[in-house]
Order: sequence, then C-alpha cells, then structure tokens
Amino acid sequence: MTLLNGKHIVLGVCGGIAAYKSVELCRLLVDAGAHVAPIMTSDAEHFIGKVTLSALASEPVHTTLWDDADPIPHTRLGQRADLIVVAPTTARVLGAYAAGISSDLLTATLIATRAPVLVCPAMHTEMWEHPAVQENIATLRRRGVNVLDPESGRLAGGDIGAGRLADPQRIFDEIVQLLPPGDLYGTHVVVTAGGTREPIDAVRVIANRSSGKQGYAIAAEANARGAKVTLISTVELAVPFGVTLIQVETAQQMQDAVNMSAQQADVVVMAAAVADMRPVVTSTSKMKKNPKTGVIDGLESIALEATPDILANLGASKRVGQVLVGFAAETENLVANAQAKLQRKNVDLIVANNVADTGVGFGHETNAVTLVANGAEPVVVGLSDKRSIAKSVMDAVVLIRSHSTH
Ligand code: CTP
Repeated sequence: MTLLNGKHIVLGVCGGIAAYKSVELCRLLVDAGAHVAPIMTSDAEHFIGKVTLSALASEPVHTTLWDDADPIPHTRLGQRADLIVVAPTTARVLGAYAAGISSDLLTATLIATRAPVLVCPAMHTEMWEHPAVQENIATLRRRGVNVLDPESGRLAGGDIGAGRLADPQRIFDEIVQLLPPGDLYGTHVVVTAGGTREPIDAVRVIANRSSGKQGYAIAAEANARGAKVTLISTVELAVPFGVTLIQVETAQQMQDAVNMSAQQADVVVMAAAVADMRPVVTSTSKMKKNPKTGVIDGLESIALEATPDILANLGASKRVGQVLVGFAAETENLVANAQAKLQRKNVDLIVANNVADTGVGFGHETNAVTLVANGAEPVVVGLSDKRSIAKSVMDAVVLIRSHSTH
C-alpha cells in the first residue's frame, strides 16, 4: 500500500491504558508507507516497552530532550513531520499543550511544529468531562488542532463510559483524511540511476562520471507524491523510505531489470547514464601485464559493440497513457538535440542539460535543465539542487499524464 508513501508522521504516545493500541496504529501507518517517528512520554513507558515501538516504527523511539543523538530533537521532529498524532493523549498532555508548556519531548515537539496535529484523548469519563479538560479541548480546537473524540465503552478497571481511545483503524482513517495522497498516488514509477559499468576483465570496467544523485532525487520525489517507486540503480545511496531498489551494473542488466518492471509502469524515467558501447570480449579473470613489454596483451585496443538502447526499446513498445522520460547530456544545440531525441526514441519528455556549464549534471549537487516535451514550449529550470529539479520534472510528468487521460 502506498497511501502514505513519503509522509513523515510523529506518533506521540502518552501514559494511559490505551497505549497498547498505539502499537497497532504504528503498524497501520508503516504498512501504508509512512515514515513513523515515535515519541513516548515517561509515563507511557509504564504501559508499553520502548522496544515494541522501536521495532515496529521507522526509527528508534524518542523519549527525552536530553539523550537523543540530535541536540535539538523536538525542533527536528517537529519540522520534518507532515503530521503529528498523539494517541492516546492524556489530560496532562492536553493541558500542557493548551497552555504552551513544553515540559517534555512530546509537548516540546507539539509546540515546535507547524504540521497538522491530531490528538486522540483517552481517559476516564470523569476526567474527560471535567471542565478543565473540556476547556483545553475547546482551546486546542479553536487553534486548529484536530481532536478525535473518545468513544464510549469499557474503560480501565471495568468501568463503562465515554473516554475510550478511538479504534486504531478509525485514527488511521482520520490521518489519511488530513494527509491527502499526492498527485502520483496509485501510479507505478520506474526510475533508473547512475552510470553503468561495462566489464573489460574481472577488475577493469568502462564507466562514466554519473553519481546517480539526480535519479535518486527523482525517485524520492515520486515516492513523496504517493507513487509506488522502483529504482534501478548502479549505485547505492540513501534509498528513500518506501522505494524498492534493484541494483545492477551493466547496460544489459539494466535492460533486463527494466523489462521486468517497466511493462506495467505508468511512468519510466531513464535518468541513468547508460554506456552506449561495451567491450565485445570480456575476460572473467584479471588480465595480467606482460613483464617484458609492460603491456597487457590483448588490451592494446578494445573492440566495442553497441549496448541495448533501453529508452528507445521502451519507446518502441510504449503503452497508451504510459509516460516515458529520457535525459540528454549535451554540450551544444541543447533544445534541437533534445527535440530530435524525443522523436527518435518516441518519448514524452526529455530533460536536457548542458554539461559544459559549471555546477550542472554529472557529480554535482546542483543541476540546470531544459524540459523539452512534444508540442510544448521548452521550460528552462535554472541552477538548483537536484531535488528541486526532480520536482520540476515530476510536475511536467503530471501535466503530460493529465493531457493523456483527458
Ligand atoms: N539511454 C538508454 N540506453 C542506452 C543509452 C542511453 O536508455 N544504451 C538513455 C539514457 O538513460 C538517457 C537517454 O537515453 O535517458 C540519453 O540518450 P543519449 O545516450 O544521449 O542518446 P544518444 O541517442 O546516444 O545520443 P547522443 O549520443 O547523440 O547524445
């Protein structure tokens, strides 16, 4: 399931008997693709073990402001979150939050965030109906905090009444309502990244300068917009949470992996720098230097042959509605060359960059591209980080998809 792909959710757990239900909520969120960062109050530790949440969540549980790896965990957690849910929320935490008192990591994070917050109170009926609690709830609601009222039912100690934590599935549904899925939800996006390596012998390869960073940024962007993402790469960088990585090395292996995944894909982005040529003959052992001549016999010259053109093959078998994106590294006549490539390989969008410019393309943290699509004016995206470029590329893909489906 990819409903919450790429979404960062902070799951706050307070000390109440319903804390055990936060474990089920955590599992539902992770299964839906969310990155879940759990925070437990010290009281919560009386009800469930830290290990339980750490094992199920996407990162170890956070409990205090003072012994986290990060010197300012509350601001980091608050800034990174797309949503904070507190389930269960006790009367104490409601009160602290309403009064703006940051007495522990959870309340500090609640006050340090601009993300939407969902509180799910759970307590005994007498506490829930107390005017102090009701006034705090009203204050929080007035400030835009979302409150999921407790249900009636069996409470701790066998009592029955209002105050029972809402069902985890109900809390999950509420979170989904608050975090609408991205504009690529329900699609399968295949992205290739990195430079291929073509073996000469057991140790030597023909390679290129591609770092794979632009392809990874595109995979992360598609993932954050709700797509199911398959990343076929020759390099292993930090794989975005929720993305499936297939590691390959040669153009042929990349072609095979693309054949496996791309047939049903809605979007294929060929960001990889695929070698156009490979050695005709490769040795499975290391070729040794001739001690007399200092030459590796058989390596005075290397005969090369063409690799499969993966993008052109995709273009030749393109399904109706499928969007194909290619890259073009050019040093001159950027738009004209990109337009020719667009036609020749039957693709929908070419992301062209002038690799002769400084800070652009291979190995850099930044890029500057021109987006060339059929029947549209080229769009120039100035020098920016690779994630911003990825955003522009995926914006163009979404636009092309909207044209082809209407
Ligand atoms: N590509 C591919 N398979 C290859 C070579 C390239 O799928 N064997 C893809 C790249 O991933 C990229 C685009 O095609 O998306 C780049 O094309 P390029 O290698 O520049 O195209 P060529 O037709 O080789 O044009 P030129 O060498 O003139 O630049």
